[in-house]
Amino acid sequence: MKKWWNWILVLTLVGLLFIVIPLTYPKSKTKDELRPIFDSYIQNFNKTYKYNLTEYETRLEHFCHSLKEIETLNSASKGPEHLRAKYGLTKLSDLSKAEFQEIHLSDEKPHHNRNTRRNRHRGRSDKNYMNDRDAYTVSHQHDNEIHNGNKNILIRKRRAAIPLRVDWREKGVIGPVRDQGLCGACWAFSTVGTMEAMAAINTGKLSSLSVQEVIDCAGLGNSGCLGGDICLLLDWLMLTDTAIQPDNEYPLKLTNGVCHKKANATGVRVKSFTCDDLIGQEETILQLIATHGPVAVAVNALTWQNYLGGVIQFHCSGSPLDLNHAVELVGYDISADVPYYIAKNSWGKMFGTDGYILLAIGDNICGLANEVASVDIKP
Ligand SMILES: *[C@@H]1O[C@H](CO)[C@@H](O)[C@H](O)[C@H]1NC(C)=O
Ligand SMILES: *[C@@H]1O[C@H](CO)[C@@H](O)[C@H](O)[C@H]1NC(C)=O
Ligand SMILES: *[C@@H]1O[C@H](CO)[C@@H](O)[C@H](O)[C@H]1NC(C)=O
Repeated sequence: MKKWWNWILVLTLVGLLFIVIPLTYPKSKTKDELRPIFDSYIQNFNKTYKYNLTEYETRLEHFCHSLKEIETLNSASKGPEHLRAKYGLTKLSDLSKAEFQEIHLSDEKPHHNRNTRRNRHRGRSDKNYMNDRDAYTVSHQHDNEIHNGNKNILIRKRRAAIPLRVDWREKGVIGPVRDQGLCGACWAFSTVGTMEAMAAINTGKLSSLSVQEVIDCAGLGNSGCLGGDICLLLDWLMLTDTAIQPDNEYPLKLTNGVCHKKANATGVRVKSFTCDDLIGQEETILQLIATHGPVAVAVNALTWQNYLGGVIQFHCSGSPLDLNHAVELVGYDISADVPYYIAKNSWGKMFGTDGYILLAIGDNICGLANEVASVDIKP
């Protein structure tokens, strides 16, 4: 009996290898034909609804829709094979689009009055304002252009050359990838992650800061696990001069709780920040990352449900109306065949490439340039 089971298991696992790697699902397959694939999915992702017939059938339905979307996105993926975005089964593949949006994408709620939200700089002098177009052109030394053949991505580097590759993870200033679970607080995870990195860059010591404190306490229209906005959070942190406490003093619960921040707590405070619409000025984003540190950005993550790895270049609208999530850009590579940003997500280490996602540079892909925030922290 035991042997028999082991064989089934081996066959299932080998089968899954073939399913996950080529990522093709003949469109002609019926729901019943897909059942065995769904069963191994349930096993591989430790899903708990195996014996609940109602839920099983509903999830199977969503699963089949995901398979269709995976096929569509993969067939539209272009570019060098090793950098091409790949889509396949993830822990989120059994959610309907509506559920996915409800659970994972309701969390970035951009402030509606865009004119007041855009281009805010608090506490930072104009001299430091990196988006100063005049300073930008006057100081140009190189005029390198990097073309990407078929997509015509053009990156102009006007200033003294920035490095072709930056990855703040290699400098030891980026904490582990977190998992926001069912709590819609991407705005808090991405901003606190950016502040952790800035503190580590300043002090040489990386320490984990409390996301829960921000979930419980941040006002100004931010509402914990129900959603918020990176720029509104920075506004609030600065206005209230809140010290974000160490994570172990205010641990993560992933639910809305009562704020119990201490007035005299030690922690990390915002000294100044910028929050800009940098559509069409992505060289400024690269410059911020290279010369300042990681940035928090709002994105549209609607097509990320079944993302496995590679550079996302298509099917990701950049409209400000579609922003629904936030991530932290921790690096970039403009020497790659498809130049990309490295985005730290908050859906756990199992998602994407060890929790990270690559986004193409130059085209406001997934709306990443709509709302770009950099932070300076108090010494
Ligand atoms: C499922 O559970 C097993 C055993 O607890 C674990 O090794 C594996 O990583 C889990 N898989 C996922 C996708 O969480
Ligand atoms: C089965 O799943 C349905 C839908 O998610 C749920 O409403 C129901 O309570 C579950 N039944 C059991 C016995 O867990
Ligand atoms: C912070 O303030 C509270 C009440 O004002 C006080 O009881 C506590 O000892 C203070 N803690 C520190 C570290 O100063």
